[in-house]
Amino acid sequence: MSALRVGVIGTGMMGEVHARLLSERIGSARVVAVSDPDAGRRRAVAEAVGADEFDDPMGLIATPGVDAVVIASPDDSHAGFAVAAVQAGKPCLCEKPLATTVTDARSVVDAEVASGGRLVQVGFMREFDEGHASLAALRLSGALGEVVAVRSTHVNPAPWAPGVSAERVITQSMIHDIHSARLLSGAEVESVSASAVPFAAGSPEVDAGAVRFVSARLDLAGGAVALLDVNVSSAYGYRVVAEVIGSEGTARTSEGSAVDMWSSGARVAKVSANWPEHFSAAYLTELTAWVAAASAGGATGPSAWDGLMANVVAGALVEAVSRGERVEIPRAERPALYER
Ligand SMILES: NC(=O)c1ccc[n+]([C@@H]2O[C@H](COP(=O)([O-])OP(=O)(O)OC[C@H]3O[C@@H](n4cnc5c(N)ncnc54)[C@H](O)[C@@H]3O)[C@@H](O)[C@H]2O)c1
Repeated sequence: MSALRVGVIGTGMMGEVHARLLSERIGSARVVAVSDPDAGRRRAVAEAVGADEFDDPMGLIATPGVDAVVIASPDDSHAGFAVAAVQAGKPCLCEKPLATTVTDARSVVDAEVASGGRLVQVGFMREFDEGHASLAALRLSGALGEVVAVRSTHVNPAPWAPGVSAERVITQSMIHDIHSARLLSGAEVESVSASAVPFAAGSPEVDAGAVRFVSARLDLAGGAVALLDVNVSSAYGYRVVAEVIGSEGTARTSEGSAVDMWSSGARVAKVSANWPEHFSAAYLTELTAWVAAASAGGATGPSAWDGLMANVVAGALVEAVSRGERVEIPRAERPALYER
């Protein structure tokens, strides 16, 4: 079978990671086209992987020489490109979040349902992380009994300068934890509440309104709860830990360190510096699964429906933080296309 010819839209940090993994580590794919308004970044990635440059991302999607598309441009451009890919009948891996509004996310779901089959995979790559995948499989096996609670801890080393609002923490970072909570519980979210811890007034390093910690509670259909927190300024590195607490047992992703060190009266285990290092294996597994599914004309893993639900829950959490109240989530009918 000939290699899948991939076009990459957005050649910033994430687009370059995907383009290099596809071209250097996945024999069944070739990056043939890239598009980015930043001509310098576009050229650097095009030369590194031997791809043609496109000024217009819509032209890249339409070109007959591109079989499938990776969307790694800024968040608010994702939905338009995903709809165009679906309408062209081309599979796409769309980075998270699927959209920045529920309306835009819904437009991708509607386009995909109209096309009659799955073409969109959303970049919630934790689904391809060994620890998260094992937890999800354990829950499905029944070994943990009924899910009582899901807990997740997400730690970033430092806020993006000059600090981030609670809205950005939720829509750009906690959105991964929202997807994990749905995946690990197998339940939809019915209502949410949340709070944020701001930096001290007058902190020199951040803007007013920047927060250092967001904590959320998701009440799930069936009575279980998900407790999520994101710390955006750990000062020590990056961590993600997920835990499923069940009626018959509890399981948690382990924080394995290749080496523990004993020195100066302390035992030290290395933590990842940041997410590219922590999830490097997951990105490769994600892309490998995507290429296999896209080569067969479809998609696998996190769907446009998952992307839409994550947008709905994130929007409700933003509202919950700003109002200081619990926010109900209206029930939505899941199209048959998205049964797992
Ligand atoms: N899954 C993950 O773990 C993960 C991690 C980081 C970022 N992301 C997501 O990946 C996406 C890209 O993030 P990044 O960190 O690489 O950002 P980035 O700023 O480094 O790169 C974005 C690139 O898109 C280009 N761009 C802007 N408008 C465009 C357009 N209309 N068409 C094509 N390209 C355009 C920019 O010039 C830039 O080169 C974001 O949506 C982000 O949320 C996902």
